Amino acid sequence: MFANSRPIRSPQAAPHPRLREVVLRHLAAPYRRPPSAAGERAFAAVAARLAAAPFVLDAGCGTGAGTLALARASPDRLVLGVDKSTARLAKARRALAAVAVDNVVLLHCELVDFWQLAAAAGLRCVRQYLLYPNPWPKSEHLRRRWHAHPVLPAILALGGEIELRTNWRIYAEEFAAALCLAGWHATATAFAPATPLTPFEHKYAASGHALWRCVAQRGGGVGSRE
Ligand SMILES: C[S@@+](CC[C@H](N)C(=O)[O-])C[C@H]1O[C@@H](n2cnc3c(N)ncnc32)[C@H](O)[C@@H]1O
Repeated sequence: MFANSRPIRSPQAAPHPRLREVVLRHLAAPYRRPPSAAGERAFAAVAARLAAAPFVLDAGCGTGAGTLALARASPDRLVLGVDKSTARLAKARRALAAVAVDNVVLLHCELVDFWQLAAAAGLRCVRQYLLYPNPWPKSEHLRRRWHAHPVLPAILALGGEIELRTNWRIYAEEFAAALCLAGWHATATAFAPATPLTPFEHKYAASGHALWRCVAQRGGGVGSRE
């Protein structure tokens, strides 16, 4: 069932020619879109718990298998899984109810809202994972990729080490380039997981896709806050 995923097809064979321009514009100007009322309500329900100590974020957690694995790997940290899909989160909640793990919180929230609200509240992550986000491989969809979205400054403000995984090399390369423009240290490399961390990683690895990872830390450059 899992080994039949098609590789990503895109007219883009290299990082987008407008990536630098778009990223620098986002870094220079605050994102003015107000969060939705639903996002505000969802965030309010977890804000106090998240403010207690830097936490691990699984952004786009899907059915939560990766969130659970991250929680087991960091039992002393709260691990927050955020997703906009009620169906996937319902599956995640069923899986979590069957195990004895008490450091996971699952949140139904649009990530754009979450990142904006969390940054505005001054919250801090110890680590953020963006595991197999929708790649938006059409060139005209550049701004939907997280690194070229106007929410990028909020993602960076939340901080911690950031790890992106994808089965599209260009996404990882663009992500690394965007974070370098913000003054972060970031590199994109191919990797082969010994044990898949998430269902999508499992599916892509079983389908023979090359997998890519970008790991980024805040640096001391122009875009840095430290
Ligand atoms: C390709 S799946 C990856 C799921 C999981 N991380 C994995 O690797 O198995 C992408 C997930 O991101 C979620 N997602 C996409 N855009 C989102 C957004 N703007 N806000 C919240 N969740 C989002 C989708 O609902 C989906 O569950």
